[in-house]
Amino acid sequence: MSSFPPAPVRHYLQFSDLSADEYAHLFTRAAEIKRKFKAYEKYHPLADRTLAMIFEKASTRTRVSFEAGMYQLGGSVVHLTTGDSQLGRAEPIEDSARVISRMTDLVMIRTYGHDKIESFASHSRVPVINGLTNEFHPCQILADIFTYIEHRGSPGAEGNALDCLKGKVVAWVGDGNNMANTWLQAAELLGFTLHLSTPSGYEVDQSVAGLRSSASYKIFKDPHEACRGASLVTTDVWTSMGYEAENEARMKAFADWCVDEDMMRVAQPDALFMHCLPAHRGEEVSAEVIDGPQSVVWDEAENRMHVQKALMEFLLLGRVHA
Ligand code: CP
Ligand code: NVA
Repeated sequence: MSSFPPAPVRHYLQFSDLSADEYAHLFTRAAEIKRKFKAYEKYHPLADRTLAMIFEKASTRTRVSFEAGMYQLGGSVVHLTTGDSQLGRAEPIEDSARVISRMTDLVMIRTYGHDKIESFASHSRVPVINGLTNEFHPCQILADIFTYIEHRGSPGAEGNALDCLKGKVVAWVGDGNNMANTWLQAAELLGFTLHLSTPSGYEVDQSVAGLRSSASYKIFKDPHEACRGASLVTTDVWTSMGYEAENEARMKAFADWCVDEDMMRVAQPDALFMHCLPAHRGEEVSAEVIDGPQSVVWDEAENRMHVQKALMEFLLLGRVHA
């Protein structure tokens, strides 16, 4: 049930919507919430709260992680798609936002243009979370950075959980897409450097990514050079959802942007490999790398649920220290 008027509503539409200090808190909470889950400790801070999930694109991880996560926090979930709601019959997004946010406490949306989620948020009484737009995928980078901290830092240590990333190099190999834009925001906010290598014509656009400056990233023509010295190498599909008509052209343009063992060899010896999944072995990543010892993709996928539970707790209850 929604309370109205609510405390000032915080949305999570882009990575830059939270401060570094709030991320430090969130990662500490994610570690504690994960610990409780693994120990079968009941934790129901969101009892009687409802999450509406709106999917205009397909999903496996986002659907399962939000739905399971909300139930584990004691809440419940309403699942809507374009095909089974009035969203697919041209009801204005503003009207949908007004109605859905009167009956639920939190909304997660996966859609196409970022302008659509912004319109929804600006007419919503409750927090709105970006479950992926053409431009950004903040929940995924939240999970990726938490996974990096788990493997290379101290996840329970608020205040210095983020230190393990400071000054490091993260290499992005592939499309200048929603994931790349979100990594750019994370690098600027959290103090690491992003090395990007994309085929010509598929570069990132600093203004779309919404950066203040170009100080936190470097562009490389050769993907091997982007990986040199990196502590984390990451990639994504060559063709994102919504761009299927370009698939044939992309298969040709991206042929040299496959993360393979040669690329991993020039990274740091203890470099991790991440991929948001779903993956295509033999396209953006070789089977040897994604199924190899440096890959942490399964932890990364699982961590979507733990970090999003911490995010939902934060957006609805503020800073919790339980
Ligand atoms: N990584 C990710 O968002 O996966 P889904 O498309 O399966 O939700
Ligand atoms: N860039 C991909 C991510 C999928 C999780 C897409 O938008 O389809």
